[in-house]
Amino acid sequence: MTFSNWYNRTLNKIWGFVEDRTSMKKWALRPQPEFTFKPSYWTGAFVVNAFLFQVITGALLLMYYQPSTAQTLTACGQTVGTLSAAPAAWCSTYYIINTVPMGSLLLSTHLYGAYAMIFLMFVHFFRGYYMGVYKTPREFSWMVGTLLMLMTLGMGFTGYLLPYTQLSLNATNVGLVLAIRLPTFGPLLAPFILGDGTPQSLLSRMFDAHVVLIPIALAALLYAHIALFESHGIAPPATSDPLQRRRFTEKEDKKHVPFMPHILFYITKWALLYAGVLFAIAALWPWQLQTYAGNVAAAGVVTEPDWYFLWLFKLVDFTGVTPVVAVGVTTVLLLFVLFVPFLDRSQRTHPRDRPFFVWIGTSLLGFFILMTVWGGETPGVQILPMAVAETIGPIFLVNALVIGLFHWRYRRSYKRRLAARTSPFDGAYPRPGPAPPPAVATREVTSHE
Ligand code: HEM
Repeated sequence: MTFSNWYNRTLNKIWGFVEDRTSMKKWALRPQPEFTFKPSYWTGAFVVNAFLFQVITGALLLMYYQPSTAQTLTACGQTVGTLSAAPAAWCSTYYIINTVPMGSLLLSTHLYGAYAMIFLMFVHFFRGYYMGVYKTPREFSWMVGTLLMLMTLGMGFTGYLLPYTQLSLNATNVGLVLAIRLPTFGPLLAPFILGDGTPQSLLSRMFDAHVVLIPIALAALLYAHIALFESHGIAPPATSDPLQRRRFTEKEDKKHVPFMPHILFYITKWALLYAGVLFAIAALWPWQLQTYAGNVAAAGVVTEPDWYFLWLFKLVDFTGVTPVVAVGVTTVLLLFVLFVPFLDRSQRTHPRDRPFFVWIGTSLLGFFILMTVWGGETPGVQILPMAVAETIGPIFLVNALVIGLFHWRYRRSYKRRLAARTSPFDGAYPRPGPAPPPAVATREVTSHE
C-alpha cells in the first residue's frame, strides 16, 4: 500500500468517526474533482486564509490600539526616550512595537498580511479573468467578487490612517480629496467621512470602517460568494469547446474528493505555509513606525500611499488629470470589471479564443505595474502629456501586436487541424501515420488535449 493510500484510508476512518457524531457533512462544501488539487484552483481560498489571518492579528492588536488623536505620552509606555507628547493612536502603536511582547511581530504580520491579501486577491482576479471563469453560470460570483475587491481595498485604505503617522495622514487626505470631489456623490459622502471636520472625527470614522463596517460587509459578501461557488461547483478548466464549459468530463466526474477533510486539509497546508512565510518576513524585516502626525519636524515627509494605490496617486500627477478625471477613470475601470461577464459573450473560455479581452487584461496589468513603479519612483512629480503617451502607449500597442500575432497563428493551425480531421485525404494537409479518428468537431481543441 502506498503512503498516500494509507494516509487517505486513515483520514477517512478518523473523519468518519467524527462525522457520525457531529453531522459535520451537512456543513461541508461539495466534493470537488481530484484534479483541482492544484494551487491555481484554490486562489480564492488563499485569499480567505489571508483574511482570517488579518481577523486574528487585528483582534489581538485591538487589545492595545487607541483610536484617539489626543496628545499624550503615557500611551507610549515606558520606553519613550526623548519623545514629546504625540497622538494616542500613534503612541499606542509605538507601545505595541516597543513594549508588548512580540508586538512588533504582530503588527508587522498584520501589515504585511494586508499586502499579501491584496496581492493574492489580484492573483485570484486575474486568474479568473484569463480563464474566463466569469462566463455563464458564474456571472454573479464574479460581480460579488468585484464588490469583495472594493471592500478589500477599502480595508487597506482605512487601515493606513490608523498608526496616525504624518505620512498616513497626508496620503489619506489625498484619497479623501478624490472621493469628496466626486460629482453628486462627493458632497453626500463628505459629512459621513469627515464628521465635524476635526482630526478625531476622521480617525474615529476610519477606525469604525476598518474594524466594524467593512469587515461585516466583507464577511456578508464572502458568504454570498462561497454560497454561489457551492451552487455552481468549481469552474472546469478553460476550453475552446462551448459544450465543455459547464461540466467536467465523465472521467473527471467520477473522481470527486470530499471537501472535509481532504480539501480542507489541502487548503490548511497552504495556510500554514502562508503564516510561516509571513512570520519569517516580519521577523527579518519588521515594519518601521514613521514619525507622528503633527510633528513639526515632519514637514518634509513625502506623501505616498501603499503600493496598491500608487497607480491612482501617479495618475493625478499627469498634467490635466483633475481629481474628477481620476475618479472617472477608476469608475470606468470598475464598471468594466463588474460587467465583463455581459460584455464577453463568446461561448468559449480559453484565452486563445478571446484575444480582445486578453489584450485588455494584459494591457491593464502592464499599465498598473508601470504606474505603480512610476508612482513609487517619482511621487508627486508632474508628468507632461507627451511623456504619458510615450510611456503608456507602447504597452497597449505591443500587447495588441503580440496577441494579434498569436491569435492569427492559432486560427490558422486551428483551421488546418479541423480541415485535416474532417477531410483527411483531400491532399491539402497530408498527415503521415495512422488514420485520424472520426470527426467530432466540438471536441477538437479542448485544453485536455
Ligand atoms: C476578498 C476577496 C475574495 C475572496 C476571499 C474570494 C474567495 C473565493 C473562494 C474561496 C472561491 C472558491 C474557489 C477558489 O478558492 O478559488 C472563489 C471563487 C470565485 N471567485 Fe472569488 N474571492 C475574492 C475576490 C474575487 C474577485 C475580486 C473576483 C472577480 C472579480 C472573484 C471571482 C470569483 C469567481 C468567478 C469564482 C468562481 C471560480 C471557480 O469556480 O473556479 N473573487 N472566490
